[in-house]
Amino acid sequence: MSIADVDRRDDLGAFAAAHGATLAFLQQGDPSLSLELTRLADAGAARIVLVGVSTGPLAPALSWLRRIAAYWWRERAGSRPEILVATRLLEGPDGLADAIADVRPITGDEPGLTAAAWEDVTGHRHQVMVCRGPRCTAKGAVDGIRGMVMAMIEHQLGDEDVLLVHTGCQFPCNQAPVVSVQPDDVWYGEVDGEVAARIVAEHFVGGRPVESHRLARK
Ligand code: FES
Repeated sequence: MSIADVDRRDDLGAFAAAHGATLAFLQQGDPSLSLELTRLADAGAARIVLVGVSTGPLAPALSWLRRIAAYWWRERAGSRPEILVATRLLEGPDGLADAIADVRPITGDEPGLTAAAWEDVTGHRHQVMVCRGPRCTAKGAVDGIRGMVMAMIEHQLGDEDVLLVHTGCQFPCNQAPVVSVQPDDVWYGEVDGEVAARIVAEHFVGGRPVESHRLARK
């Protein structure tokens, strides 16, 4: 469900395979849920059971699994399988049987992917690019993201203050994990959870960049 779960794809894939299931991602990972539903439907599946998995914090609400599946179902041309969605998220290896035993069908009446609140480009003071390229991911980018989000919650910063964006490689990989802050053009390296919390408190709230982890600009 969450971006952090993409980093656990090997473990999650092995878990799914051991239970005769396949893996799909709601965001960032490949295959996407929509692609996997199409593959299964094209292969003749008549009934698909979806179990949302979140192995860490910051996953979107379970309702998003239903909304995305319903969107695919409505848009699907040709024969459509029955889709059932577990009513609870799986947060570890236990409880799969219980989750599968408590499912609700997709009816097509679920909310769509748009809402009035998502019409306009939001105003925000800072756009923060968190590198999720291969080097930064391997060196713990997810810890920095978690620390940043938790600190933003603590300081009550919303999207109008900071728009957090996940990116591919931003190039100074030797300094991984890398975070860049615009429009200030401030770049940070070695951003773990603790440094991320300092960036929130000192830079976003206090207005002073964290010089100890600031990268020099050419
Ligand atoms: S992978 Fe993050 S800067 Fe290259």
